[in-house]
Amino acid sequence: MKFTCLAAQEEALVSTHDLSQQASEKPLSAAQESAARRMASAIGTLREPANIVIVGASGGIGSALIRALTGDQRVGSATALSRSGPIIEGTEAGHIDISDEESVAAAAELCAQRGPIDLVIVATGILHDGAALQPDKRMRELSIEKLQRTFLINAFGPALVAKHFLPHLRRNAKAVFAALSARVGSIGDNRLGGWAAYRASKAALNMLIRTLAVEQARSHPEAAVIALHPGTVDTGLSRPFQGRVPADRLFSPEYAAGKLLAVIDKVTSADSGAFFAWDGTRIEY
Ligand SMILES: NC(=O)c1ccc[n+]([C@@H]2O[C@H](COP(=O)([O-])OP(=O)(O)OC[C@H]3O[C@@H](n4cnc5c(N)ncnc54)[C@H](OP(=O)(O)O)[C@@H]3O)[C@@H](O)[C@H]2O)c1
Repeated sequence: MKFTCLAAQEEALVSTHDLSQQASEKPLSAAQESAARRMASAIGTLREPANIVIVGASGGIGSALIRALTGDQRVGSATALSRSGPIIEGTEAGHIDISDEESVAAAAELCAQRGPIDLVIVATGILHDGAALQPDKRMRELSIEKLQRTFLINAFGPALVAKHFLPHLRRNAKAVFAALSARVGSIGDNRLGGWAAYRASKAALNMLIRTLAVEQARSHPEAAVIALHPGTVDTGLSRPFQGRVPADRLFSPEYAAGKLLAVIDKVTSADSGAFFAWDGTRIEY
């Protein structure tokens, strides 16, 4: 085994682990970007006109998802739920704070008024928040505040969204509930350590998805409840850690959104409870 100094390991960890650890995250050509844009309308396996909800529509990936879906003729209603905006032309906008159950319940009722929901994508998440929250590199940097805040947004919030939205999924046709997780939440894939709070919160999210998928299959046998890893995407969440990410491994939000929608288009109820990467490959829990 080759040893490097701790500082170098940590730098490599926070710069590249979550963001570009996948060997299969290949360079993007202009043709790929364009293909991804075409794929962004690939929701052909959902019933039309589809009733779609994006939770976290103000985020880098969430806003790309909602932009991709608004131009699709097969989308009947696209609801952009967020804490802070934005209002995108062609979408219904609604408020949601995933850390507040009343807000989540009200948002679910609002969306359900438009009929059974065909697709919910939870695109919220947190890794850092300036001085208030920096991801831990070492165990001595862990604190109850850091753990609570990270788990609140990455695991507890999506669990509340699932609680209030899953009952409103369409029953008689394919419907998908997808939560954006992260490959570093894979326990089996964890060889570098670090970012314990973020990793553990995503592992908890993965377990919630797996567990809720089992229950959902009883009432909604055609539904797929899945976790998704978007790849390394150029958003505010990844920006402080992009320093050593090769440019060809950093996806644009538009590219990631197109790939995620393509995965969603392919999944069936047989995949419910699984964890998929942006390219459709399964990630071990
Ligand atoms: N970017 C990457 O490279 C990458 C890699 C792996 C996984 N992911 C995952 O992908 C997801 C999306 O990440 P992103 O890169 O798009 O991050 P982002 O641009 O920072 O977006 C995060 C979103 O979460 C929302 N949010 C946070 N707390 C909330 C709350 N209490 N209620 C409602 N919304 C809340 C934010 O809303 P406000 O605007 O109101 O703060 C924002 O819209 C996350 O789960 C992340 O872990 C990203």
